[in-house]
Amino acid sequence: MKVVVIGATSGIGRALAKKMSSSGWVLGITGRRLELLDSLETELASECYKSQFDVTDVEQSTAAFEALVAEMGRIDVVVINSGYGNTDPQFPLAEEVQTALVNVVGFTTIANLAYCHFQQQGAGHIVGISSVAAVRGGPFATYNASKAYVSSYLEGLGCRKESRSGAITITDIRPGFVNTDMAKGDGLFWVASPEKAADQIYTAIKAKKRIVYITKRWRMVAYLIMSLPFSLYRRIIGQGAGV
Ligand SMILES: NC(=O)c1ccc[n+]([C@@H]2O[C@H](COP(=O)([O-])OP(=O)(O)OC[C@H]3O[C@@H](n4cnc5c(N)ncnc54)[C@H](OP(=O)(O)O)[C@@H]3O)[C@@H](O)[C@H]2O)c1
Repeated sequence: MKVVVIGATSGIGRALAKKMSSSGWVLGITGRRLELLDSLETELASECYKSQFDVTDVEQSTAAFEALVAEMGRIDVVVINSGYGNTDPQFPLAEEVQTALVNVVGFTTIANLAYCHFQQQGAGHIVGISSVAAVRGGPFATYNASKAYVSSYLEGLGCRKESRSGAITITDIRPGFVNTDMAKGDGLFWVASPEKAADQIYTAIKAKKRIVYITKRWRMVAYLIMSLPFSLYRRIIGQGAGV
């Protein structure tokens, strides 16, 4: 199997690349930090192709993604893992805009390119790394909104002809807390290691699941969050985030 992992330099993406490589998958790895792509390459057991690009630059991403796919030949799976979030209580606009650029613009660019590639190829699998945050708004508003966008976009792709026929598979991965650079702050609970998250994501991809919570018990949290009245929800989520 051949897989492209967008955002493989650290955290969940890096652990997933290693897991897939140890299972013999050929890897295409991307991110902005070239030194981390280089160090990851040395840790992988299988063939590896690297591409350095910023997903917020649509033109650069398009050219780089197409060049990577051409270099790898046939690809079977694209994992869109790149993501950004900020928990600065000052709520700076620049951080909100960067979150939207990475999680919405960057995500859309790669998801569209991957879907169109798989349409032409006649088969493929798109995996988006969304979040439990997708199910409801949150005090760092753009992050939750952007992940709701990711999950909705994936559901939309699943409605298209090639997905309905089973030629293209769409998987929406919704992690809870995972111990990475992104998961900062107090009040975190049920924090999974990137390796544990990667193991469960890998299993979900192999099983061609549609929606998966990582770790599994976060499904309960998602349902609880969805069912809470707003008056109670906002108190819990706001105080938990310290804002
Ligand atoms: N950690 C959690 O608790 C948690 C929970 C739910 C969902 N998630 C989601 O899981 C995914 C992975 O996050 P993580 O926790 O593993 O954090 P991380 O270690 O910060 O990884 C983020 C990855 O995204 C890439 N990325 C960020 N901005 C980019 C840009 N402009 N262009 C290209 N690549 C970019 C980074 O690569 P470069 O910096 O090298 O570009 C890095 O490889 C994200 O989508 C995140 O929203 C995480």
